[in-house]
Amino acid sequence: MNQRLKGKVALVTGGASGIGEEAVRLFTDHGAFVVAADVQDELGRQVAASIPSNTVTYHHCDVREEKQVEETVSFTIQKYGTLDILFSNAGILGTFTGILDLDLNKFDNIMAVNVRGMAATIKHAGRAMVDRNIRGSIICTTSVSSSLAGCGPQAYTVSKHAVLGLVRAACSELGAHGIRVNCVSPYGVATPLACSPFNRKPEEVEEAVCSEAVLKGVVLKARHIAEAALFLASDDSGYVNGLNFVVDGGYTVVKGAFPITHE
Ligand SMILES: NC(=O)c1ccc[n+]([C@@H]2O[C@H](COP(=O)([O-])OP(=O)(O)OC[C@H]3O[C@@H](n4cnc5c(N)ncnc54)[C@H](O)[C@@H]3O)[C@@H](O)[C@H]2O)c1
Repeated sequence: MNQRLKGKVALVTGGASGIGEEAVRLFTDHGAFVVAADVQDELGRQVAASIPSNTVTYHHCDVREEKQVEETVSFTIQKYGTLDILFSNAGILGTFTGILDLDLNKFDNIMAVNVRGMAATIKHAGRAMVDRNIRGSIICTTSVSSSLAGCGPQAYTVSKHAVLGLVRAACSELGAHGIRVNCVSPYGVATPLACSPFNRKPEEVEEAVCSEAVLKGVVLKARHIAEAALFLASDDSGYVNGLNFVVDGGYTVVKGAFPITHE
């Protein structure tokens, strides 16, 4: 196997579940050492223990707390000696109310996880890379909701638009240090984030997602998103910076279907 991250060190937030867990597995398959950070400690430890050769370490980190983020970056460097890749992926769906009924405390919480948390990870991972002259790669998980309203809850849409702005601002600043900052924007994936709030089974969520999808015959899985993150993490994307890598099978560029005539 061509190991595309051989010897690299990655920090993955939200690494205990869903897309983050899949990225932890794929990155280690490709030769990386990974710190999986999350607030779900038991699950995170299980993920780390299920991967052989001590290539993954679980570390508790609530991304809303800057001190914990700073400490997690330091832990990664102490454990594995460097930091080449940040996959800032932890996120929540948050409140489902509309703007007119917005509970601003709930709004603050979703912004704290999805935006402030990602900003804190970029700040501290970015500092560590700049200080050590590491030409690293930073990837954030946004969403189709980073560019389109109506496919996620209102506050979530606000937060994911903000993450896209954060990535663009950071790619401009960190590009001067040779550090690339990109994001990956998934369409619907049947992870706990997408299933639990609706009390639906993964198959039910996948069926609903597929019925709205533009690209037929493929079910979007966490693995597809992890593969996009792997591309952005690896040297295969060596000159890619500031990209919103949309993994949606064309969902955000197609509206309806123009009737086709056969002449
Ligand atoms: N599943 C989808 O359909 C979908 C679509 C677009 C974007 N996304 C994004 O993908 C990312 C990963 O979500 P997922 O679908 O894998 O869901 P998930 O719930 O399986 O994973 C999210 C992880 O983030 C962790 N997390 C939540 N709050 C945290 C905090 N304060 N600090 C640290 N970790 C925290 C959770 O414990 C969980 O392990 C999120 O940013 C989400 O917005 C998901």
